[in-house]
Amino acid sequence: MPKNAGVALLPLIEGLRAVGAVGLRYAADSRRVAGAIRAAPAGLFLREWLEAPAGVGAVWPSSERLARSMAARVDPQGAGLVVELGAGTGVVTQALLDRGVPAERLRVVECAPAFVHHLRRRFPGVTILQGDAARLSDMLGVDAAGAAVDAIVSSLPLRSLDPDIVSAVLDQCRTLLRPGCPLIQFTYVWRGLPVAGLSDGFVSRSDQAVWANLPPARVIALERAA
Ligand SMILES: C[S@@+](CC[C@H](N)C(=O)[O-])C[C@H]1O[C@@H](n2cnc3c(N)ncnc32)[C@H](O)[C@@H]1O
Repeated sequence: MPKNAGVALLPLIEGLRAVGAVGLRYAADSRRVAGAIRAAPAGLFLREWLEAPAGVGAVWPSSERLARSMAARVDPQGAGLVVELGAGTGVVTQALLDRGVPAERLRVVECAPAFVHHLRRRFPGVTILQGDAARLSDMLGVDAAGAAVDAIVSSLPLRSLDPDIVSAVLDQCRTLLRPGCPLIQFTYVWRGLPVAGLSDGFVSRSDQAVWANLPPARVIALERAA
């Protein structure tokens, strides 16, 4: 080997070291980025949608504007429970808390284990119930006589769920809500109701378009008829 070969190779060795360091840093960064995307609400949402498109019913979480519009229809002062159905990543849960609904009055129902795990970490003071909204009374541990539900706020994808589940969920809402109390549902449908039976036993209270959502949505508020 020539006498100065070591010196001559130094820049190459330094170069390789630098490339290696950049490579390692890049790998670590991309792992961090991938981890963050998986943990971020939108990443979690997309993954769950790929697993169960009909159950999740949307490819993107609800916007804060949509969540605030739903929460605005809830009276934060009541004494009864406020029940959220299909909470997903918790955008509406947060809006309900921001609206002033005390955490102790909130019952959040979600069937997908990954969302439940996320919700329990995000809202340690809120009761997150894992299960099917069609079995709401059982989950709340109440029967119709003992029910004190002041409002039900639903993000359930009524149009893509099994019609028997939808019918059971709506039965539960009719049973648990007292007259005058609201059922709030968002929908991507622009005319009429997302499912025909939604208004049975209810009267219409308000209907608001929310453009700042992907896709734009409508918030329908119904009131349990006397
Ligand atoms: C449109 S997504 C939720 C949107 C939510 N506001 C968000 O931004 O994350 C509907 C949610 O309903 C849940 N879901 C679907 N069917 C359900 C059922 N029968 N009982 C409880 N949750 C259900 C899905 O797992 C999903 O999280």
